[in-house]
Amino acid sequence: MAKKGKQATWGGRFTSGPAELMQVFSESVSFDARLAPFDVQGSKAHAAMLAHVGIISKKECREIRKGLDAILKDIEAGNFTWDIASEDVHMNIEQELTKRVPAAAKLHTARSRNDQVATDMRLFFKHACEEVDAALGRAMSALLALAKDAKEIYIPGYTHLQRAQPVSVAHHLLAYIEMFGRDRDRFAGIADRANWCPLGSGAIAGTTLPIDREFTAVELGFTDVKGKPRCTPNSMDAVSDRDLFIEFASACAMCGVHWSRLSEDMILWNSAEFGFIKLPDSFTTGSSLMPQKKNPDSFELLRGKAARLQGHVTALMAMVKGLPLTYNRDLQEDKPPVFDAFDQTIMCLDVIAGSLDGAAFNEQKCAAAVSDPALLATDLVDYLVVRGVPFRDAHHVIGALVGLSEEQELPLNELSLKDVQKINKKFDADWVEVFDVPAALRKREKTGMPGPKEVKKQLSKWSKAL
Ligand code: ARG
Repeated sequence: MAKKGKQATWGGRFTSGPAELMQVFSESVSFDARLAPFDVQGSKAHAAMLAHVGIISKKECREIRKGLDAILKDIEAGNFTWDIASEDVHMNIEQELTKRVPAAAKLHTARSRNDQVATDMRLFFKHACEEVDAALGRAMSALLALAKDAKEIYIPGYTHLQRAQPVSVAHHLLAYIEMFGRDRDRFAGIADRANWCPLGSGAIAGTTLPIDREFTAVELGFTDVKGKPRCTPNSMDAVSDRDLFIEFASACAMCGVHWSRLSEDMILWNSAEFGFIKLPDSFTTGSSLMPQKKNPDSFELLRGKAARLQGHVTALMAMVKGLPLTYNRDLQEDKPPVFDAFDQTIMCLDVIAGSLDGAAFNEQKCAAAVSDPALLATDLVDYLVVRGVPFRDAHHVIGALVGLSEEQELPLNELSLKDVQKINKKFDADWVEVFDVPAALRKREKTGMPGPKEVKKQLSKWSKAL
């Protein structure tokens, strides 16, 4: 059923307003109201520019800016009534402002909601990247604290989820710090690409009015390192470009891939089968049926939310790929996935920090697992290589030793010297010294290896960086 009242901002050519269902269907204020601080910031800068070029008077500019400040204050205090009849955050604010300040009827001069929303979102992305960076810093600090604590604890490293070679817990955790470090770089890159001002692009083709785009850009902080304004160079691209949305959601999803792998390690390590780590009560939950259970729910949810973030990237890419230039209303659907990606990423990173905070390694279980002598079979190959045996031959020799140990049902290091020498005469009585785990790690001190000195170096590098 059509409503009688016309839409206040664009209703000129219409004889009736939108149907109630259409209003509910097409509103975005229920999710874009959170852009209010950026929208007000953008409008204040736009008003200042309009006054600067003489399109509005200084007095009108002052009134508009004061009115915008007052509205933002009301919004922040929860004293603002959002109305879906005004569609979105932009029109809600503008219409309320016009009620309070008559000069506000001039505010939308030389501006469209198309360049307005593009500007709001670029301001949002700059802010969001900073917030995610800080949250990444908190998660990385928690990882680092745990790594420092567990410096002397060794565990098997795995490939194919089979015991491979010994590593320190710190080295394992530092791997995740590296991943999150790369995430930080990605968000910094996105913040830099967000730092271009689209205002002045209008709906699609700019404006005939004598605006000063550079003035607005400087006013809003869209500047390079030297303070020079950065204005988007193509009005059609500026109003329909959604690269940042996809990039931001992708960076969140990639970060999610990282925390999901961390979660999987934590879930495995926390199981009775591994028993390497004990997770804190505060980030685990019980079972309503099985009284003994303590489930690693925080990490399971982190793993699940990583999937949700991947869905957002798919939604955004699919939304944009078939759109002709320039703005199409489809693009209003760009915000829910981005906002959810942002909110969930911040929460997930804080949950990681919280879950790791109270986690404690079980040194005995770790020691028992890493004492498996087969973990040093490769070091035994190196032992022969040092004694002149070609690597491929040495690999076969140690393979034969492993076979023999299975046959004799003895751990690899308990084979007799006689038996070992029968397979290759390069073995000496000192061959068993290879099975000393800390000594094996001390031999791995080149860049990026798990030797204790190298790990210490990496730990202090990150301590300084964080
Ligand atoms: N709420 C709209 C969005 O987010 C703002 C832009 C509307 N532009 C338009 N021509 N209808 O996409």
